[in-house]
Amino acid sequence: MQGLAEELRRLVAEARTAQDWGAPADYIPELAKVDPEQVGVAVCLADGQEIGAGDADVPFSIQSISKVFSLAAVLGRLGDDLWRRVGREPSGTAFDSIFLLEQEQGRPRNPFINAGALVTTDALLGGREPRQALSEIMYLVRAAAEDDDIHIDKAVAESEKATASRNTSLLYYLKSHDNLRCPPEMVLGTYAHQCAIEMTCHQLARSGRMLAMIPGAPAMISSHRARRINALMMTCGQYDGSGNFAFRVGLPGKSGVGGGILLVAPGRASIAVWSPGLDGYGNSKVGTWLAERIADYTGWSVF
Ligand code: DON
Repeated sequence: MQGLAEELRRLVAEARTAQDWGAPADYIPELAKVDPEQVGVAVCLADGQEIGAGDADVPFSIQSISKVFSLAAVLGRLGDDLWRRVGREPSGTAFDSIFLLEQEQGRPRNPFINAGALVTTDALLGGREPRQALSEIMYLVRAAAEDDDIHIDKAVAESEKATASRNTSLLYYLKSHDNLRCPPEMVLGTYAHQCAIEMTCHQLARSGRMLAMIPGAPAMISSHRARRINALMMTCGQYDGSGNFAFRVGLPGKSGVGGGILLVAPGRASIAVWSPGLDGYGNSKVGTWLAERIADYTGWSVF
């Protein structure tokens, strides 16, 4: 798209003047160390072009964006059987909430809230060793990005495991409802490692091409499955901020508390934005602003 590269540079320069960057997640101590005043964006276009601006080559913790990859991996393994254990409705509650789990007998509303992602990871484990499930996710991410230089930050994984009271509670609650097959500690360890995958905006945008169904991208999942994952990203990808995100941006997106957001403009582009400071929902503050401005400029809203 003509002029987009220049517009991205302009938007990043404007973003850098932000008065309020939001605060990095601090419940995972390792993430609290990240300088909030960083912002990057990368876009992979349908014609094969890849453009970026700002801190697009700085690796960051993808956190909950990994839930998209674990979901894609488990759907490849189990198909629709997953939906017996996890729903497909927005929750309207915070990403780490236990509230609905009690009301709904241990069946999480969707695979993107923590409870649903923990069930997804449990299903991916399916009685195997954590390293087998993790290699499956890493294979998918690396192959989709066509880049083997993507790794797990062990310090972030350990930091999450050491402070995981919430997720541990969710796991035992799921277990009490017979919706967990593997030992809670094993699921927690696997999940903390998948969340600790580090990627740059360029790498993330490239991996998202499989969801954008861009010609020439590695064919990792069928278009039928990509459409369904995109629908879940649109309705549930930003937790209780999903409605507002659809209103402001109009693209399927998945956020992470590392400050990244993966956005999909079906048939047109895969976009990654990153800025570590978060809003009250745990989604990137400046990143959401940037996503909104890109959607305005390109007219790529699906609505
Ligand atoms: O489980 C957690 O709390 C983190 N590993 C991931 C949460 C997250 O990224 C929420 N998204 N914005």
